[in-house]
Amino acid sequence: MAAMSMFLIISTAWAVIALALLIVAWWLASVGRIVPHRNIMILLTVGAWVFILNYIFVQRYGGEFGSFPREYVPWMALHGSLGLVPLIGATCLVVGRLMAGRNKFSTHFNRHHKAYGRTFILVWFFTHLGGIFNAIFLR
Ligand code: HEM
Repeated sequence: MAAMSMFLIISTAWAVIALALLIVAWWLASVGRIVPHRNIMILLTVGAWVFILNYIFVQRYGGEFGSFPREYVPWMALHGSLGLVPLIGATCLVVGRLMAGRNKFSTHFNRHHKAYGRTFILVWFFTHLGGIFNAIFLR
């Protein structure tokens, strides 16, 4: 029980912070302040990976956390699947920028950075809203 509430507290706080940072990073990019934009997006992408790996770890070793009510299973599956889109997408955008000019992969993602970025931030945003919803109803 303790592990679960701790996880929910930290993940809800992270979701709220990440929601704010997503908006700030988007705004920074749109006004051409690229260095803070890059730094925030790298932070959020690394943070997302830490969150997911920790989530899997808690699921595996956190005891009763695995047994949330059955009626939540489809919703959790949707939330998790949706979350994978910005997780993998953001990773591609970050890796693309870090490897700029070195391969077709980065050329593709850099050429369409804006379109991909806007899409992933939007899906990411709703994934965090879903996460906050989970934290309230799975408490
Ligand atoms: C998590 C990954 C990222 C996402 C989701 C993302 C998202 C975005 C978005 C939505 C825009 C367009 C802003 C607008 O609407 O005008 C943008 C622009 C930009 N971003 Fe990112 N970004 C990410 C990572 C990075 C990184 C790591 C860099 C490294 C420098 C970077 C550099 C830029 C630049 C230079 C622009 C200006 C437009 C362009 O050159 O394509 N972004 N980004």
